[in-house]
Parts: sequence; structure tokens; C-alpha cells
Amino acid sequence: MNTFTFHNPTTLHFGQGQLEKLTAEVPKYGKNVLLVYGGGSIKNNGIYTNVLHLLKGIDAQVFELSGVEPNPRLTTVHRGVELCRKQNIDLILAVGGGSVIDCAKAVAVGAQYAGDFWDIVTRKASPKGALPLGTVLTIAATGSEMNSGSVITNWETQEKLGWGSPFAFPKFSILDPAHTVSLPENQTVYGIVDIMSHVFEQYFHHTTNSPLQDGFCETILRTVIDTAPRLLQDLENLDDRATILYSGTMALNGILSMGVRGDWATHNLEHAVSAVHDIPHGGGLAILFPNWMTYTLDANVPRFKQFAQRVFDIETADKSDRQIAEEGIAALRDFFAAIGAPSKLADYNIDDSTLEIMTDKAMVYGDFGNFKKLTREDVVNIYRMSL
Ligand code: NZQ
Ligand code: ZN
Repeated sequence: MNTFTFHNPTTLHFGQGQLEKLTAEVPKYGKNVLLVYGGGSIKNNGIYTNVLHLLKGIDAQVFELSGVEPNPRLTTVHRGVELCRKQNIDLILAVGGGSVIDCAKAVAVGAQYAGDFWDIVTRKASPKGALPLGTVLTIAATGSEMNSGSVITNWETQEKLGWGSPFAFPKFSILDPAHTVSLPENQTVYGIVDIMSHVFEQYFHHTTNSPLQDGFCETILRTVIDTAPRLLQDLENLDDRATILYSGTMALNGILSMGVRGDWATHNLEHAVSAVHDIPHGGGLAILFPNWMTYTLDANVPRFKQFAQRVFDIETADKSDRQIAEEGIAALRDFFAAIGAPSKLADYNIDDSTLEIMTDKAMVYGDFGNFKKLTREDVVNIYRMSL
């Protein structure tokens, strides 16, 4: 186990009816609230009306940044920063999924940076502070509700890059499983894949003596694998929605990374695909992760064997370690197929014509990944396996 320091300042309000906590949380920060949301799902499912009702009840002055795109864009961040400055915003309230929250984080930090926010994404400048941010999460997926990361797309330069700062942690997040019931089947599947992928990124490492960390990861994976098929049969099942919602937060709030060094190569591969083709993050991960596993298997066969045995209960008698490991990866492919996740880039009409440009995007900071360092050649190979 490595040494570590853990700090997570986000207050989590979890469960049905927790939206009312807004009336206690918002006044801590002031009257002027910037409500950030996406393309309209919160208007269709009634969350928007409920939030406005509660904000009115505490005499908040509400301004709006709407139309945040899935894979949120820099241009929208700019719009938000301008609104914050003009309207003297005290609190940013993100109501939506990871895209809305990531955009709100960027606006919160951008509002306290004099230059172009893209400087922060590209590490030319570092954040000096942020406006306070609260969130009401409507999709179980990214973990953005309880972490300090954010991913922003610069569509002009076709770059989709992650950035993070301790200033970007939400002050509070409200998670009501009922808010995720309106999520359609495909978005539910993308979220499930994303949650599992976050666990994979932190599970495949070479750190020794990580029994508790392994157990946390394996339990989240087994729980999601057990729950997902049932939830997809009944999208309105609140117990299963709650289980997936809680899993999503626990998968990426820093707890799984204590004392171990995760990989994160597959996320980088996926962001490069999304930067060029604007596909859903979870869809891209479902295609890339099994191929990354097959490609990197030899970097640590025992680790994949443990995964196969403990997550997918693969029988081990009379089999080599490698065979057991390969069967674990095959079981993951079967699971993704069973829940209706995509398996090839061709499912998004992506062929080899953009392979080089996606590779350029993935290589922007040079070789990457900790489990196996990926070179340009490796990246091309994994993309080719994924076509
Ligand atoms: O825009 P609206 O109308 O709200 O519709 C959204 C969007 O179309 C819809 N939706 C959300 N909640 C709904 C709903 N529809 C019906 N009912 C609801 N309750 O779902 C669609 C997808 O939403 P989005 O926010 O894009 O999904 P997600 O939460 O998966 O976020 C994806 C983004 O987060 C980044 C991804 O790269 C991507 O840009 N990530 C952020 C991370 C982080 N900050 O820690 C880590 C992740 O690995 C990821 O990279
Ligand atoms: Zn992700």
C-alpha cells in the first residue's frame, strides 16, 4: 500500500425527499443563484419546477445557464463565466448529469480567473479559487457530484480534456434515486458502464498489499453486475436505482484510490474518441475497456485472474492463470453485450479514417497509463482492435 492523504469536503444528502435540503444549504452562500442545466430533461421530469419552487421559498434570485451539452463545451463555460460576473452570483447550482456538473465546476473556477478558462484545462494556469457549487444529480455515472474533476470539450480544436482542482469539489450534492427514474435505458446503460470503468481504472494497478481496496472494488463491481440486469427490466425500481446511484458516487469519490495508483489510460482513449466524434462517454468505454484489458493482460496476469475469480466467479480447475484471466475478460464482454452496451466503434459509424487523428488527441501529453504505459503504437493497436 502506498502512503496517502485523503480529503473530501462534499456534503452528501442521499435518498428520497432530500431535495428539500436545498432550503438549508443555499442560504449559506447567498441570494444570487446560477442554475445550470442541460437540454431540458429536468423540465420534462418535473425536477426544474421543484427546484425553482424551493428556491423561491427562500427568496433566492435565480439566473439560468441552460443548454449544457452532453460532453460540455468551452463556449458554454464562457457563457456561464460571463453570467457570474454580470449578475454577481453567490452560488452555482448544477441540476443534471456529469456534463452539467462538470460545466458548472468550470464556470465556478472560471469566474475567479481573469484569463480564458481553457488555460486552466490545458494547465497553462492553475485555479486560485472558485465560486461555491452545489449539485442535484440526475444520472448515476461520473461521480462528479463528489469529486474535484471535470472534463471539458473545446469543439473548435477537437480536444476533450480532463482537469481538476480542490476548489472544484461541490460544497453539497443532493442524490435522490427518484430523480434518476426518468433516465432512458441507453443512458442508464452508459452510466452503469462508466461506474464499472471507474472501478477498473483504480483496480488494475501493481501496488501490493491492497486487500481492503480490492474488496471495495470487487464489491462495487459485483453489486452493479447483480443490480443492472434487474434495473434494466424495470427502470422505475427505486431500490435498484438507489443502489446504482450510490455505487456511482462511491466509484469515483477518491475512496477506491487510497493507497493505490490507478491507471486511467482507457479514459484518456475514450476522451480522444469523444473529442473527434462526440459519442456518449459510457458507450465509448464499453467498446474500449475489454480491448484495453486483452491488450494489457500480460502486464499482470495474476491481477486479471483475481478479477475473473472474484468478480465473475470463473471456475479455475485445470486451467492456467492466463486462461482464467481471459475468461474473466470474456465474461465482461458478455455482460456488456447482455445489458445492450455497444461493442465496436463501428456501432457509432467510426472507421479507421479518423484513427490517426484520435491517436493524436490521445497522445497530447505523451505516453500514458500506469498499469501499462501506452505508446502511440499501443494506442493505434487498441483503437484497431475496437473498430
Ligand atoms: O441534457 P439533458 O436534457 O439534461 O439530458 C441528459 C443528457 O442528454 C440526459 N439526462 C440526465 N439525467 C436525466 C436525463 N434524461 C432523463 N432523465 C434524467 N434524470 O442524459 C444525457 C447524458 O447526460 P450527461 O450529463 O452527459 O451524462 P454523464 O453523467 O454520463 O456525463 C458525461 C460527461 O462526464 C464526463 C464525460 O467525459 C462526459 O463529458 N466525465 C466526468 C467525470 C468527472 N467529472 O469525474 C469522470 C467521467 O469519467 C467522465 O469522463
Ligand atoms: Zn468515466
